[in-house]
Amino acid sequence: MGTDRHFLESLLGRMTLEEKVGQLSLYSADVKLAGAETVNPALTFKAPQSRFEDIRAGRVTGVFNGYGEAYIRALQTIAVEDSRLGIPLIFGADVIHGFRTAFPVPLAEAASFEPELAERVAETAAAEAAAEGLHWTFAPGADLCRDARWGRVVESYGEDTLVASRFAAARVRGFQGDDLRDPRRLMATVKHFAAYGAAEAGLDYNTAEISRTTLVDHYLPPYRAAVEAGAGAVMTAFNDVDGVPASANRELLTGLLREQWGFKGFTVSDYNSDFETIVHGLADSPREAARLCFLAGLDMCMQSGLYADQLAGLVADGAVEEAAVDRSVLRVLAAKQALGLFENPYRGLGAAFDPGPARALAREAARRCPVLLKNRDGVLPLKAGARVALIGPFAREHQNLNGAWAIFAANGQSVNLEDGFRAALGDQALIVEPGCAISEALPGGLEAAAAAAAGADVVLLALGEGQHMSGESRSRTDIGLPAAQIELAQAMRRTGKPIVTLLRTGRPLAIPELAALSDALLVTWFLGCETGAAVADLVLGRAAPSGRLPMSFPRHVGQAPIYYARKATGRPPRDPPGPFTARYIDAEPGPLYPFGFGLGYGRIDYGPTRVSPADLAGSGAVTVSCELTERAGADIEEVVQLYVHDVAASRVRPVRELKAFRKVAVAAGARVVVEFELRREDLGFADGTGGWTVEPGAFEVWIAPNAEAGVPARFVLRSEAGA
Ligand code: BGC
Repeated sequence: MGTDRHFLESLLGRMTLEEKVGQLSLYSADVKLAGAETVNPALTFKAPQSRFEDIRAGRVTGVFNGYGEAYIRALQTIAVEDSRLGIPLIFGADVIHGFRTAFPVPLAEAASFEPELAERVAETAAAEAAAEGLHWTFAPGADLCRDARWGRVVESYGEDTLVASRFAAARVRGFQGDDLRDPRRLMATVKHFAAYGAAEAGLDYNTAEISRTTLVDHYLPPYRAAVEAGAGAVMTAFNDVDGVPASANRELLTGLLREQWGFKGFTVSDYNSDFETIVHGLADSPREAARLCFLAGLDMCMQSGLYADQLAGLVADGAVEEAAVDRSVLRVLAAKQALGLFENPYRGLGAAFDPGPARALAREAARRCPVLLKNRDGVLPLKAGARVALIGPFAREHQNLNGAWAIFAANGQSVNLEDGFRAALGDQALIVEPGCAISEALPGGLEAAAAAAAGADVVLLALGEGQHMSGESRSRTDIGLPAAQIELAQAMRRTGKPIVTLLRTGRPLAIPELAALSDALLVTWFLGCETGAAVADLVLGRAAPSGRLPMSFPRHVGQAPIYYARKATGRPPRDPPGPFTARYIDAEPGPLYPFGFGLGYGRIDYGPTRVSPADLAGSGAVTVSCELTERAGADIEEVVQLYVHDVAASRVRPVRELKAFRKVAVAAGARVVVEFELRREDLGFADGTGGWTVEPGAFEVWIAPNAEAGVPARFVLRSEAGA
C-alpha cells in the first residue's frame, strides 16, 4: 500500500493522545441488518446516542456493519467537517459472501476448487459494497477446520491447507485489486488469527489444543498466504493458542506476523476479544487487558472501547510508550491513506453498480459449487419431460437460501427451489410439498408428500440444515438430519420413485442413512441469490456438477474430527478392520465420502501416476503426470488432485497431503494427460524446533480423484548437493 509518510507524520504530530487512541477504537453501527437477527452480541460500552459526539471529538476510527448512503454520509460528514483534524472514518463490514447480491458461502466456494472464481466473486462483492460507501471487509476467513461440529466451517475453506491458502489469497486479490485507491475495492482482513478453526470438540470459542508443528504445517499457511497476497488488516481470534489468548499473544501478533511474515498493515481485535482476555483469566482488570493486548501487538479494539478507556492512563503511567501508540496510529492512518480517504472521504458512495452482471456471476458460482456424491443408474440429469415432485422443507421456503453471513442481502430476494424449477421446467409438471418442517413433522405432511410423489416420475427431496444451524456460535453435537427429515426420506423411498436428494448444508453432515435412501445425492450448500436457478440448471443437465468435497463427510459424528491428512499411526486402520488397529468397533472405517470426492455426468478413469525424472535432485523439480480418459460418454470437469506422502521422516508425516489441484475439462470419450510440477520446497515441514526442513528420501505420490483413491508412484528426493 502506497503511503505518503510525511503527510501522516505531520498529522500525527498534531494529534492529542485522546485523538490517537480514537484512531485505535472501532465500533459497530447502530443499524439493524437485513439478513441476520443478531450478528454480534449487544454490548453497551458506548451508548448509541453518544456516537455523533464521539466522532466529533475524534474518539472513533471507524464504524462497522453500518450501511446505506444516508447513514455513511452523515457520519463521515461529522468526522471530516466537524472534528478538529478532519480525519476520515473507515467503514468496515462483514462482506463475507456477498453484499446485496448473496453468493455461495465460503465452504461451498471451496468446493468449486476454483480460486479464480472466488477472486471474481470477491471483486464483484467489493464493488457492490464500495458503491454504498464501505471501505473495508472482515474477510477472508482463513481458518483451517477439521471438525464439522464447529458451526463456522460454513465460512471456512475446509480441511485442507493448500485449498484454504489458495482461496484466502485469491479473495484478498479479488477484494483489494492492485490499488486500494480504486473506489470499487475493499481492504481485506485475514481472520481469525490464529487457529480459531481448531476449536476443541468443535465448540465455538473453545481453546485450540494443537501441537506447534500442526499449527505451523497446517493452520498458519492460509493466514500467511492472505498476508502475502497483501491483506491490509489481520483480525485476532477469540481463542487462546497454547494458553495465551490470540488478542494478547505477542508471539503470534509480533513475533510471527510482523517479524517473520513482514506484515505492514494493522491488527484489529475480534468483537470484544481484547476485553475477553479478562474472562479467559489472563488479565485481572481492564487496564491489564489493555496493557497485555497492546504490548502483544494489537493495534485496534473492535467494540470493547478498551483502549479508549485505558490506553491514555497506561501511557501516563509509563506502562506503554507513546511512541508505540504512534506506531499503531500510523498503521491505521496509512490504511486510510492507501484507501484514498484523505482525498475523498466519500469514496465510492453513490457509484453506479449494475446488479445484473453480479447476479449472473452468482448463478455461475452457484452452479460450480454443488457436489454430486451419488448418482445411481444415472438418474441425474433428469430425463426430458420427467414429471417432478419437489418435496421437503426447503422446497419452497425463502428463509434459508443465503447462508450465515449474507447479512446485507435479504433471503426473500433470492430464488428458491420452487421458483428455480418452475422457471426451468416451463409447462412441465412440477408438484411441490414440504412434507415436514426443518426440525419437526407437519400434520399430514408425509401423506401429502406421498400423494405428490405418486403422480411424479422422480422425487427431488430438498433436505438439510437451516441457515441458523451453521455459523458463529452454532456448534452441533449431532450433525445428522433431524428425525422428521429422515422420516420423510423413508416415506419417499417407500413410494418406489427414484429419489434425488438436494442437501442444503453449511457443514459436512453424517448422513449414511440418507445416502442409502437416495438414488442421487447432490450437496448444494447455501448458494445465495440464485440457488433455485442454479440447482435446476444442474439437475436438468443444463450444466454439470463439478464441485468436490472440501471436507470429509463422516459416517458418524463420533469420528469428528475426521480429515484425510491425518498423521500415519503405527497401527493404521484396515479394511476390513481388524483387532488392534485404529478402528471403531461400532462403525465402518473412514469417511462416508472423502475429501476431494465428487462425481460429474461424465466419468474419468485415471491411468497410473508417472514421475519424471525418477529422482528429484538438486534444487530441481519432478514432473508428475497421469492420463485421464472419459468413459461415460459425457463431458466432465474433473478436479485432478496431486498428493504426496513422505515415507520416512524425522517427524511423523500425514498419510497424504494435497500439493496441487486443477479443474480440467475432458470432453466425452476424450483422453488428456495432466501434468504437475513438484518442487523440493513443496516437500518441507516444521522440524519441531522452530525451523523448517526438507528431508531427502523416498516419497509416494498420487494423482487421484480424491484423498482416499489411487495407487501411488514413488520417487526419491536426493540431498540438495545431489548426493
Ligand atoms: C466475528 C467476526 C466478525 C465480527 C464483526 C465477530 O463475532 O467472530 O468474524 O467479523 O464479529 O461482526
